[in-house]
Amino acid sequence: MEALSDISETLLVPLYARAGETQSKNPLINDRKAVEITEKLNKIFETSPSPLYRRLVKGKLRRSANKKLIVFFALRTRRFDRYCRDFLSRYPDGVIVELGCGLSSRFSRIDTGAVEWYDLDLPEVIEIRKQFFQETARSHMIASSVLDFRWMEQLATTKKKILFVAEGLLMYLHEDDVKSLILKMQQQFPGCELVCEVENTFIINVLKKERWKKKFQRDYHLGPDVILYFGIREGKDFETWGQGIVFLDEWTVFDDHEKKLGWMNLFAFSKRLRKSQWIVHYQLQYP
Ligand SMILES: C[S@@+](CC[C@H](N)C(=O)[O-])C[C@H]1O[C@@H](n2cnc3c(N)ncnc32)[C@H](O)[C@@H]1O
Repeated sequence: MEALSDISETLLVPLYARAGETQSKNPLINDRKAVEITEKLNKIFETSPSPLYRRLVKGKLRRSANKKLIVFFALRTRRFDRYCRDFLSRYPDGVIVELGCGLSSRFSRIDTGAVEWYDLDLPEVIEIRKQFFQETARSHMIASSVLDFRWMEQLATTKKKILFVAEGLLMYLHEDDVKSLILKMQQQFPGCELVCEVENTFIINVLKKERWKKKFQRDYHLGPDVILYFGIREGKDFETWGQGIVFLDEWTVFDDHEKKLGWMNLFAFSKRLRKSQWIVHYQLQYP
């Protein structure tokens, strides 16, 4: 397997979390594909000099405080799945585009037999993705930065309703880039919906401090290029970017009152911690 950049490596933690949760007692999600992929990756990672890879192989994500992280990722994945299912119940022949897809197997989990699916990520990730997934008549891969808007040409002729999902992507981008991306999607695909994970600005500000940034990278064994840039204060914040950007709803991990989160459920009572990282749902209408 080719070496991944620091930013692409971030796909490994949610992937291993989905595999870990699938193999746990009373799993919240069933992602057999993540189990299959991680078992194959373990054989490659066993001898790797990378502390992150060795940590993942040893199953460290499944221990102590990290167990909560697994539950967090699993609940987030389950919620994104539900958003997709809800969209397809309203638009059975709709199109779903997963931006920054990593090694997500969402298409196989929720395929209705009619949905048209696009998985987009950086070329180095799509190259690896192709070792584990195959394109079909209704599921396609796009090897591109989400910020190189030429990828939108592949969808230009569709008359169908589109849902864009971004699980764990936007926080790694700069605010100007996120804004250009959303305005471009609105302009190119008016009427589309967007479901994306967002970081709270207060976390972004904490991580601007060198000490906390280094701690964050150290704790997760992430490379120095993994920096969180983009955050919002309130779910409705994108509405200020232009006419026709309509906030529909939002979800935080605490909304599910999941027992597996244990003491972490106490965060639900803190306005800030409740929404340190959460999901927002928008419609991008004609401006
Ligand atoms: C935290 S991972 C999440 C992966 C996947 N959504 C999941 O939940 O398993 C972030 C993903 O965003 C991708 N990414 C980062 N910057 C990107 C960009 N400019 N264009 C496309 N993908 C990008 C990374 O390669 C990585 O796969």
